[in-house]
Order: sequence, then C-alpha cells, then structure tokens
Amino acid sequence: MAGRRIALLGATGSIGRQALEVIDAHPELSVCGLASGSQPIDDLAAARGVEYAQVGGDLTDLLEACRPDLVLNAVVGFAGVGATLWALEHGVALALANKESLVAAGELALRARRSGGGLLLPVDSEHSAVFQCLEGRAPETVDSIVLTASGGPFRNRSLADLESVTVEDALAHPTWSMGPKITIDSATLANKGLELIEAHFLFGLEYERIHVVVHPTSVVHSLVRFRDGAALAHLGHPDMRVPISYALTYPDRGATAVPHLDLSRGVTLEFEPPDGQRFPLLPLARMAGERGGTYPCAFNAANEVAVAAFLDGRIEFLDIAPLVEDALAGVSGAPANDLAELVEADAEARRLAGGRLVAT
Ligand SMILES: NC(=O)c1ccc[n+]([C@@H]2O[C@H](COP(=O)([O-])OP(=O)(O)OC[C@H]3O[C@@H](n4cnc5c(N)ncnc54)[C@H](OP(=O)(O)O)[C@@H]3O)[C@@H](O)[C@H]2O)c1
Repeated sequence: MAGRRIALLGATGSIGRQALEVIDAHPELSVCGLASGSQPIDDLAAARGVEYAQVGGDLTDLLEACRPDLVLNAVVGFAGVGATLWALEHGVALALANKESLVAAGELALRARRSGGGLLLPVDSEHSAVFQCLEGRAPETVDSIVLTASGGPFRNRSLADLESVTVEDALAHPTWSMGPKITIDSATLANKGLELIEAHFLFGLEYERIHVVVHPTSVVHSLVRFRDGAALAHLGHPDMRVPISYALTYPDRGATAVPHLDLSRGVTLEFEPPDGQRFPLLPLARMAGERGGTYPCAFNAANEVAVAAFLDGRIEFLDIAPLVEDALAGVSGAPANDLAELVEADAEARRLAGGRLVAT
C-alpha cells in the first residue's frame, strides 16, 4: 500500500486511541491532522510531529488545511456531520466510526458520495462485518442482513429492575469497552437503532431487510443472508482494532495484534430476539428510519440530549426513551435539502427534548 495520510478526528476518544495504536503498527500509515472536542492535543501532535491539530471548532477547517488521503471520523455525535460530508464531497476516503453523522445526514451523505465518488468504509464492527461479507457479491443475490447486538448490561433485567439502575451500572458493558455515550446507547439498545439506520444508508437495503438479533457474547459481528439460503457471518473477538485496521489499511487487510478465536476451547453462539418492550428505543429508531426525512436526525438529536441528561444525573434510565419519543412526536420530520436545514432539524429536536427535560 502506498503511504496514506490520515486525519484523525476524535483522537482522544476510545476509537481515536485504538486507531493510533493501529497506525503505529503500519509504517505506511501516518497522521497529518488531529482533532478533539475539548481535551488539549498539542502535546500529542508535537510528539508525533503532526502539523495540524485542532480542539473544537469547525472540523472542515482542519480537513481543508491538511488535505488527508483518508479521514477517520471518530468524533461522537452530530458534531461529526460536517466532516463526514466534507470527505464524501471531496472524494476523500472516509473511515466512519461516527454513526450519528450517517443517521442524521443519511440522504445528504449519499448525495455527497455520488458527487464525490470516494470510498465509505464502515468502522462500526457490525457494519464492517456486513461490508466484508458483501464484498464482491451481486446485489440481487442478497436477501437480508442481520445485525447482532450484545444486549448490553441490562439484557436480563426486568422492567421493574430497570427503574433503579445507576449511571455506573449502565456504563458497565459486558463485552465492549467504549466511550460513555455509545455505552449508554448500548444499554438502551438505541445504539442498535442507530446502527439499523446506518446500515440502511450504507448498504442501500429497505428496513424490512435489516434484522437485529441479540447475541450476548459478541463473537458473531453480523451476518448476510443470501437468496440461496446461505448466510455468511464475520466472527472474532470483540476488539475494535480489527474493524479500525480493516478500514485504515483497506483493501490490504493489514495484520493486527488481535488473537484468533480459539475454537477448540468452545465458543458460545446464542441468539435471541430483542425485547422492544423493555428497550423501546430500538423499535422507535426503526420507525424513525422508515418515516425518513429528518426523523432519523431528530431521533439522534433527542437521544443525544437524553443520554447527556442521564449521564449528568438529571434523569433516570427509564426516562430516556419517553423523552426521545415525545420529541419525535413534536418534530416536522420534513426532509433537509442542505446542511443548514439539517442543522435546523437537529436544533428543533434538541429544543423539544430540552423543553421536556425542564418540565420533568
Ligand atoms: N468505542 C467504540 O468501541 C465504538 C464502536 C463503534 C462505533 N463507535 C462510534 O465511534 C464514535 C466515537 O466513539 P468513542 O467511543 O470513541 O467516543 P469517546 O471515547 O467519547 O470519544 C469521542 C471523541 O470525540 C471527540 N469530540 C467530541 N466532540 C467533538 C467536537 N465537537 N469536535 C471534535 N471532536 C469532538 C472527543 O474529544 P474530547 O476527548 O476532547 O471530548 C473524543 O476524542 C461514536 O460515534 C461511536 O458511536 C465507537
């Protein structure tokens, strides 16, 4: 592989730190730009000889300045939208961890990809798995995809038990070690809802052809079902360095330090349907996705407000879903023709969710 200059957005986060580890293992990969939200990164940039570093602000300024070969968008939340659109519009390869940007700006992102023509490489482990199972297959041979969900820390809790769970309980994910927002999203299954919408835009499949199944050990990262009755699955340890490395070294599938599964020790493959009653954000996300327009954007925005409020101790775990549902009921959902309209739709949903927070 020729040298690849990477802009790493969200460098101080869980994905960002693991990406630096992957980059360090590959001399052909280098960092040309680093960005964080509020943590200082000057020392990190200086230690690596990175010329362009930015804390907060407009991420596209950094991208314009450093002109990378590949953008790794590992920012959390709607803040990543501008960078996603920039990479797609400019035909610069995009390794996308920031699922919220594709959920919120799916239509605009597809339009930008059509005009820019760059690669869109998923970093989410489920979507990386599907991407790999689909590679080289004719679209008409694909029946459907199945996204796996660990079920989070509360998989076996009754609704009554969920009333008293704490932030600490929700942050204790059984299989993945991740940043706080996605960890709470995994506990509510909003994360799988976001991934459902992400999959719709990434793979161009109708929602009824995207299924979700709970798989507690997170060994199968997702499956693709084909029209002949076969299903291809992607298996491995739950370790984000694998999908990060796959995207950064694509199409070379660079080596990683992650060990293989030891099948001789026995691997448990259990699957069960998700429970939409205890985890209503999953069906709510599906509904928002099916409605289209800016409903997915509103779902994401209200969920961001609710998760931040839960992490701050302002609401209980079981308040998150009703807050999102109420906000969704109040938005117009009209499609956004450009980024300014999308930002307005995002703000409208945040206002509605914020208003309900004040009322509680
Ligand atoms: N962690 C995982 O295993 C995993 C797996 C699949 C997908 N993802 C997705 O990857 C993304 C990142 O997740 P994470 O777990 O790495 O989150 P995280 O640990 O909370 O890190 C988030 C990163 O985003 C930065 N950031 C926040 N707001 C920003 C802004 N306005 N401008 C620039 N940077 C900003 C943060 O900077 P500061 O440190 O300065 O706040 C931090 O570097 C999320 O979309 C998540 O859903 C994560």
